[in-house]
Amino acid sequence: MKQKILVAGGTGYIGSHTTVELQNAGYDVIIIDNLSNSNIEVLDGIEHITGIRPKFIELDLKDKEATRKALASQPGIKGIILFAASKAVGESVQKPLLYYRNNITTLINLLELMPEFGIEGIVFSSSCTVYGQPDPENLPVTENAPIKPATSPYGNTKQINEEIIRDTIHAGAPFKSVILRYFNPIGAHPTAEIGELPNGVPQNLIPYLTQTAIGIRKELSVFGDDYNTPDGSCIRDYINIVDLAKAHVTAIDRLLGGKSAKDIEIFNLGTGCGVSVLELINTFEQATGVKVPHKIVARREGDIEQVWANPERANKVLGWKAQETLADTLASAWKWQLKLRERGIM
Ligand code: WQD
Repeated sequence: MKQKILVAGGTGYIGSHTTVELQNAGYDVIIIDNLSNSNIEVLDGIEHITGIRPKFIELDLKDKEATRKALASQPGIKGIILFAASKAVGESVQKPLLYYRNNITTLINLLELMPEFGIEGIVFSSSCTVYGQPDPENLPVTENAPIKPATSPYGNTKQINEEIIRDTIHAGAPFKSVILRYFNPIGAHPTAEIGELPNGVPQNLIPYLTQTAIGIRKELSVFGDDYNTPDGSCIRDYINIVDLAKAHVTAIDRLLGGKSAKDIEIFNLGTGCGVSVLELINTFEQATGVKVPHKIVARREGDIEQVWANPERANKVLGWKAQETLADTLASAWKWQLKLRERGIM
């Protein structure tokens, strides 16, 4: 009997890739999503890859009664992976209450409902943004690095949600949790059936870069080359989206297989390699043979200078390690952009 997993936010970028890997691992996936920042066609892409169309319920998880009815209609769910959240750093500064209401209410509703339906575990999508700019002695950053005051409401909702999960479990809630702190997820599924599809002008580097490479954008602005880094541009830990998705399967296996020693565990999901913006552009050009017109402009407010993971705990305790190279990952992002053009989507 396949174990049922609810993927909340499963038509999104990370949710869709995680659904594929869960299905590949033999799980029965149910997706709840309100389609506020994703498209229902993603279900076709998932089905084309795995041959299995996940059960889909269009629903806003802020509506607790509707969520309760949805869970009642799908008996036997054993675990939840929570992706559903607003996630644009810049937008969160403009619309903080939207972010606090959406990201926090969604979590609280699910945590309150889990015991009613015997759901044993929740994997929470967190972010390295909780570390802010780590001090030099804390780079590469481990899970024990200090949590810094959030620099955006988006980042603050991640910190608050981690604390809500911790306090709820410490108060005796009958479930466990694995919190995954992502670094920078990039790339697309190698089939190019699913990938990152931002609405409007991309805020994140990779979609803007591939849209520039294909000619949708005139040139890529590099936000600053006067940082205290080897080439002056910011450093990040770019992690392949399929590697990231596989980490969620490992986390669910751990939660439901009784392997997690503690009631709540936290893991950094990164490659352990820091890469600058200019290095990434060069790697993309080498990997694809496509030039990316770019110019150096002023720093973007709120950007931190450099952060990359020490993934040893995820490697040793979770038993997960990033496999894909940056070059192959960037090539997958390019293949996805070409597929979007082929389909007339952009
Ligand atoms: C990466 C680097 C920019 C765009 C944020 C959130 C994180 C997660 C991912 C949601 C930075 C530079 C970018 C551009 C550029 N959010 N850049 N020109 O800011 O590291 O992380 O998005 O899941 O929680 O904090 O990602 O891709 O926006 O930027 O030079 O047009 O690329 O300055 O150094 P970021 P990003």
